[in-house]
Amino acid sequence: MSALRRVAVLTSGGDAPGMNAAVRAVARTGAHRGVEVLGVRQGYGGLVRGEFVELGPRAVAGVIQRGGTFLGTSRLLEFREASVRALALEQLRARAVDALIVIGGNGTQSGAAALAREGARVVGIASTIDNDVEGCDVSLGTTTALDIAIEAIDRLKVTAASIGRAFLVEVMGRDSGYLALAAAVAGGAEAVVVPERATSPEELAAAIRKAHEVGKAHAIVVVAEGAALNAEELSRVFVERHAELGFELRVTRLGHVQRGGAPGAFDRLLGSRLGACAVERLLAGEHGVVVGLRGADIASTPLDAVAEHRKPVPLYLFDLAATL
Ligand code: F6P
Repeated sequence: MSALRRVAVLTSGGDAPGMNAAVRAVARTGAHRGVEVLGVRQGYGGLVRGEFVELGPRAVAGVIQRGGTFLGTSRLLEFREASVRALALEQLRARAVDALIVIGGNGTQSGAAALAREGARVVGIASTIDNDVEGCDVSLGTTTALDIAIEAIDRLKVTAASIGRAFLVEVMGRDSGYLALAAAVAGGAEAVVVPERATSPEELAAAIRKAHEVGKAHAIVVVAEGAALNAEELSRVFVERHAELGFELRVTRLGHVQRGGAPGAFDRLLGSRLGACAVERLLAGEHGVVVGLRGADIASTPLDAVAEHRKPVPLYLFDLAATL
């Protein structure tokens, strides 16, 4: 295998707080270890088009505290086609890039796995607010998104308790209920609705009514966007049934607000560790893996295993939310 002289790094898919910390760590660890680092603009789209920028250590000044990704990102569905990936591989060859670091969630890592099978040296960094990437306990961006959701829930409780209402708060997560479960426990919600566990409108009504009967001034229900019925659909079910609930009902959909925050300390630290680790593992000859936090350490998981499996949600959080 040839030496590692030049590495490219890109962010792809949904942006996540902490991506900039990871790119900064790649650039500065590379400079420290004598490896030239190029940034790729706009994810796989920019890679296919050959949009590279020099990422010397000063090019990443002031980015650690910024949300989103300063490199830009995109969702390129065409990257599933071998002919499109061939263009990307050609761009890497033309720039004499020895290895690629790919920061993103499941779709992004599936693209990375395909590039690796086609001969590229690739290391992935698990980064999505959805926390559904196999091989890591918590993906980059999750805890900041969770903090934003909890802050919103705290605020909704203030108005809900003042006027005596129930709120359905919809959080992101695509088809994973992780963010909803974690937000429900940490936000002290009365109930949670997720794709992984069926909850009928009748069960939900009972939970809201119970809150009213025990004298609570409000009821908060966290609903995952991927649940069988999302918050808007659930609220339509209850339009004529306010009397059953005890409370008037309102809906708040947090949407992309959750994704746009400045990274908290945990994500800055995690991004820094993962970015540095990706470079070190490449220097040690390792590739074809995703690096992610496992316990207190950074673990490597084969890209193919990440691409093939979706991390299951910890459903004990569902019972914990109900108990607490
Ligand atoms: O995967 C991250 C995520 O924010 C999901 O939670 C959400 O379903 C999706 O991206 C939204 O995607 P887009 O920004 O393309 O609308």
